[in-house]
Amino acid sequence: MSESAQDGARDGDVWGRVDDYLEAALLPEDPVLAAALARNAEAGLPAIDVSPVQGRFLHLLARIAGARRILEIGTLGGYSTIELARALPADGTLVTCEYSPEHAAVARANLEQAGLADRVEIRVGAALDTLPRVAGPFDLVFVDADKQNNAAYLDHAIRLGRPGTVIVVDNVVRGGRVLAGGDPATDGTRRMFAALEQEDRVEATALQTVGAKGYDGFVVARVR
Ligand code: SAH
Ligand code: DHB
Ligand code: MG
Repeated sequence: MSESAQDGARDGDVWGRVDDYLEAALLPEDPVLAAALARNAEAGLPAIDVSPVQGRFLHLLARIAGARRILEIGTLGGYSTIELARALPADGTLVTCEYSPEHAAVARANLEQAGLADRVEIRVGAALDTLPRVAGPFDLVFVDADKQNNAAYLDHAIRLGRPGTVIVVDNVVRGGRVLAGGDPATDGTRRMFAALEQEDRVEATALQTVGAKGYDGFVVARVR
């Protein structure tokens, strides 16, 4: 299998079929998430949301952390936002940063349909411009936007955290391309790993993942 097929393929791929099996075993039918994906597709958004089992992983992390305030960088149509916001208590809040007004409009509709609009605030604009006006502290931060700014996003996540804050960064392996770099996205992620090498404010690890969305990985970190 070519690297690009490993990275992106689903149909006929054992990773995708195992994800189907895990979804069937573990995840209940979810009309709200299904409707969100349908609306995303209808609106022409790229299908680069986290996978269903990854979304459930984020949800569980937020529950395990007892998160009451969550920050997300990179909303798209709000698929991961819904999973994270559902983990909040009734008085919890989530702030999500999205560059594209079109993506934000789709996410707003999906969050309304999910009954979560009252808990979620979408900050529209480049996250590097909107984050300086976001007030912390957050209990969990999910970084999933333009990868070339991952080092800066990690810095904001730490700054907006408190001891114990959980930070997750998506797409840090990209089919193994993180080894070489050479494009703006993986170079950005490599700068983030270089920063983590020197970073005293967090303890961090990274997990490689395979599944419906190919071969990739997450950083999981905890603010000291
Ligand atoms: N977290 C989503 C997927 C996000 S895809 C999910 O799993 O469902 C990445 C998103 O980041 C896209 O919607 C893209 O428009 C947005 N993005 C790209 N550059 C950005 C920037 N500079 N600031 C904020 N968002 C950005
Ligand atoms: C891309 C972005 C993502 O956040 C993701 O999970 C997969 C792919 C992308 O920009 O190609
Ligand atoms: Mg992602």
